[in-house]
Amino acid sequence: MTGAPEIHVLYSQEEIAERVKAIATKIRQDELKDLLFVAVLKGSFIFAADLARALHEVGVEPEIEFLHLSSYGANTVSSGTVTILKDIASDVSNRDVILVDDILESGRTLRFAADMIKERGAKSVRVAALLDKPMYRKADIEADYKGFDCPDKFVVGYGMDMGHAWRQLPFIGFIPQDGDK
Ligand code: IMP
Ligand code: MG
Repeated sequence: MTGAPEIHVLYSQEEIAERVKAIATKIRQDELKDLLFVAVLKGSFIFAADLARALHEVGVEPEIEFLHLSSYGANTVSSGTVTILKDIASDVSNRDVILVDDILESGRTLRFAADMIKERGAKSVRVAALLDKPMYRKADIEADYKGFDCPDKFVVGYGMDMGHAWRQLPFIGFIPQDGDK
């Protein structure tokens, strides 16, 4: 592609795969029952796919669902309001649920999702976030399973986008700004 910006690798495919495996092992140790694994679209789709297969490798057999929420407009600044674009179809009552997302930033999206699932009668709601940006937290929520602490950069790849581009990258990267090496 001509005119594409140079993207610096923040976390390589190998580093991500190692963390995904570690998260799957931790989930198995928690011995969750009747597990419902909810991928929060769109950004989590590659992480969720890899984590689901890593769970299979360690003998965990979740039901897999998809929840599409929007807290962003076309820009990169959170509007603070969350809307449901596509709801899950499964009954969550009395089940252990894991919400799987790409980045926990303000936490508003996952706080909204966790409250909604809890109100529907889930036994427990946990959060698996590939990246954590605690410096921007606004809502009271933390990841039970975390891939990496993310530096204060806008990252792309491995499912995550900037203006709808770069989700296809197999690694997590960032577009260098002035001041980045
Ligand atoms: P929040 O925790 O409600 O603020 O929402 C976090 C969501 O914002 C993530 O799931 C991403 O979809 C998006 N997001 C936040 N930071 C980034 C980034 O650096 N790159 C791409 N998407 C981001
Ligand atoms: Mg998201």
